[in-house]
Amino acid sequence: MEKPKDCIMVIFGASGDLTKRKLIPALFELYKQNVLPDKFAILGVSRTEMSDDLFREKMNQAIKQCKEDVKPEILDGFLKKLFYIPFNPNSEVDYEKLRSGIESISKKYDIIKNCIYYLATPPKMFVVIAENLGKKNMQDQSDGYKSLIVEKPFGSDLESARNLNKELRQVFKEEQIYRIDHYLGKETVQNVFVTRFSNGIFEPLWNRNFVSHIEVTAAENLGIENRGGYYDNAGALRDMVQNHLLQLVRLIAMEPPSSLDSNAIRNESLKVLQSLRPIKENDVEKYVIRGQYTASKIRGEDVKGYREEKNVNPESKTETYVALKFYIDNWRWGGVPFYIRTGKQLPTNVTEFAINFKPTPHSIFIKDGDNPGCNQLIIRIQPDEGVLLKFDMKVPGAGYSLQNINLDFHYKQFTAVHIPLAYERLIHDCMIGDSTLYSRGDVVEAAWEFVSPIQKAWQNNPEIKLFGYPAGTWGPENADELIEGKNMGWRYPCRNLTNDGIYCEL
Ligand code: BG6
Repeated sequence: MEKPKDCIMVIFGASGDLTKRKLIPALFELYKQNVLPDKFAILGVSRTEMSDDLFREKMNQAIKQCKEDVKPEILDGFLKKLFYIPFNPNSEVDYEKLRSGIESISKKYDIIKNCIYYLATPPKMFVVIAENLGKKNMQDQSDGYKSLIVEKPFGSDLESARNLNKELRQVFKEEQIYRIDHYLGKETVQNVFVTRFSNGIFEPLWNRNFVSHIEVTAAENLGIENRGGYYDNAGALRDMVQNHLLQLVRLIAMEPPSSLDSNAIRNESLKVLQSLRPIKENDVEKYVIRGQYTASKIRGEDVKGYREEKNVNPESKTETYVALKFYIDNWRWGGVPFYIRTGKQLPTNVTEFAINFKPTPHSIFIKDGDNPGCNQLIIRIQPDEGVLLKFDMKVPGAGYSLQNINLDFHYKQFTAVHIPLAYERLIHDCMIGDSTLYSRGDVVEAAWEFVSPIQKAWQNNPEIKLFGYPAGTWGPENADELIEGKNMGWRYPCRNLTNDGIYCEL
């Protein structure tokens, strides 16, 4: 990773959960790896009254909570770079305070006024902060670059996302805006590029002639934890599908870009979203299954149902599971169904996509077992990042008995080098001005455009079924009916952790 130029990062919402769970640990890791700018400061701002020292102490605890073997001298060096100002985002006066805070850090530590404004606040504050920064001309780049990182959710539907884009662009230029989707920062998501575009063997097969269908799964074995207030207004469609899963789909399905240039990649991947066949409001029941987890026992322990979770409406109709079937209407993918699903309280924690290849046109072997003859290429995004190829082998002995076996590659065995976590990679990219792994405004809008009829159908037709599924199961059984075809069904990733910390496909 290259060393970025000097900068000051202002974190709005510095007393919040995201700052302590993700941002500060990521910045600390970058510091440890020596890839932060030589001259660098973090200025945390939020409503809570706190001194620099108290902020440092809180961040100290936060780092120790999520990192092991923290060397005290490294941690001390990092904490010295942290500063804090109590700040009310609605008060114009406080922007003056912020400006002088930046000014004095810049003078005292001789840091050029390159500034990254990180909006880690509730979404309703995004526009307020951007507007006020604009009123004080703090987006002006004459004394150093000014970038704005915007956290998710970016809008709650197509209209609000369009408005948000419009309002932000009244102050910041598109090139200054970095819309974060942490899935794009995952190492294995980027490896999709390399797998696809650096290996001659995959490209000829990566199309409707050889692929029967594609599955994308993001399963989580946890519930909503303490996020009832947020989640009950979001649901799985907004929380996972509109952003993370459609981002994965665009990378899997895009045409090769002309170069690794940020716009070349984003232009190509935008075309995928623009080619998604719209699911009409009337067809939503046919193509989309929604579910909500119900109380159950997992390994002998009682698990609450979604409606019993804290801050959730006891009559909530919010979905904690979604499965969708759709098509991409272009030359490469015409007629190939894409199936995506995500859910909370599923049996395992795994994000992967599976390219299912068509079987041979004629089989001379008698096949049995689990989908023999169907080759699958599985790219595991997490955990146990890696690639798995499933193909048939002859079982030793007389006759031709076949078994579908696994050629399994694990990232862990490939390199001992630290794999940067998503937030590390993305924050560093913003510091070096690389927006490739951030979502452009038009890409975000195209994704909302696709999910919009689904949102509307659910809003307008409460009779569309919300299926219950017991926590710890693979979601509503009705989702199986989405995948039609002989010997076809969802892949149920099932792996065992070995003693070397490697998962082994069962
Ligand atoms: C977040 C969602 O964006 O992504 C969460 O709000 C979800 O609900 C999380 O759990 C999943 O991210 P990861 O990196 O743990 O797969």
